[in-house]
Amino acid sequence: MEDFSGFYKLSVEERLAKVKKAAGLSDEEADALKDSGALKLERADKTVENVIGAVHLPLGLATNFTINGKHHVIPMAVEESSVIAAACKAAKQTLPDGFKADADESIMIGQVQITHLEDVTEATKNLALNRKEILGIASGHMKQHERYGCGVRDFETKVLDTERGPMVIVDFFIAVGDAQGANMVNTVLENVAPSLTQLTGGTVRLRIISNLATRRKARASAVWKKSVVGEEAIEGVLDACEFAKHDIYRCATHNKGIMNGIDAVAIATGNDWRSVEAGAHSFASLGHYKPLTHYHRNEKGDLIGSIELPLAVATVGPAINSSPTAKTALKIMGVKSSKELAMVMACVGLANNFAALSALSTEGIQKGHMKLHARNIAMYTGAVTPGETEAVAEALSSERNFDIEHAKSVLEKIRKG
Ligand code: MEV
Repeated sequence: MEDFSGFYKLSVEERLAKVKKAAGLSDEEADALKDSGALKLERADKTVENVIGAVHLPLGLATNFTINGKHHVIPMAVEESSVIAAACKAAKQTLPDGFKADADESIMIGQVQITHLEDVTEATKNLALNRKEILGIASGHMKQHERYGCGVRDFETKVLDTERGPMVIVDFFIAVGDAQGANMVNTVLENVAPSLTQLTGGTVRLRIISNLATRRKARASAVWKKSVVGEEAIEGVLDACEFAKHDIYRCATHNKGIMNGIDAVAIATGNDWRSVEAGAHSFASLGHYKPLTHYHRNEKGDLIGSIELPLAVATVGPAINSSPTAKTALKIMGVKSSKELAMVMACVGLANNFAALSALSTEGIQKGHMKLHARNIAMYTGAVTPGETEAVAEALSSERNFDIEHAKSVLEKIRKG
């Protein structure tokens, strides 16, 4: 395994060369990471409608992640400074043990809504009596995916008493392998719907995947040792999590910090981050809105952090196949399946949360933020070399003066020696 320590000190070109060697990227794959290889307009035009351009995000690598004994460098696409650094720092503090993670089989829930039923009891009875036939019809539309272990596993019915009358909802449980599953699931639902109409005498309305993927969860945990992070950080994280458990205003931000990391990996790998967000927050709301992470001390007084959430993410599919950057990101990460990707994402979410809570509850996050802000200002004012940028940023931070004109004069002074 390539040594990524000090990765942040390298220039962009040096970092690219390092990751190219470590992940065995071809010239073409490495080029896909540079501006020149980013989403071409012709490709963008075939992806969505009314295209006039493409939006770029910085892509960075989170280092120091050991997950179930395997090292991963993790591509993250995010515009917010400190997110990647925070993940790296929290992951480093778990070493040498790193994270433990696991994930469920990729089972998605697809829902069919049936309305205008004359006799709801009769309708649900008929569905139960014809279970084998319904599953047979639904499975018939999964034939081409069966060799990847995909298939319709089962279904359940429930009755909703609504203001528009009773409705029967049929929830299908469908294994989708390494795909996100929306296309597969929605196809099955639309094709099985006519038989449900026939069996119930109702009107089929919605036929759509649910983003609350409770049968496709990932879990991760890690130990942050007292000897590494200190008593103060452990106490701070425990207090911070308790705050989130008891206050929804804090809990929203607590979970946002988790999603900083998870979304960044979802975007880097070409995944549908809106469905990931919907799944995470609706899962957090089951019962009442709660933090997605948990913390407690072990008998040695060290801090154990854990996370569990639905992660319906893919390593195959049209969005990934059509994005050279996403494919390269997956190769760099070294994940072979959607389950593995979900495990990595759960670890990143936990790392970002630990980093945020330990910083917020001790020194605060503005110091780190302002340092990066100072670097941005230094570059904006014309600092060219990394040495110049650091020197200007250092001066602005220590004087706590981030004014552009001041930055310009600092740069001039540095250049004059
Ligand atoms: C900022 O993007 C994320 C944090 O607000 C998360 C948190 O407060 O836990 C720092």
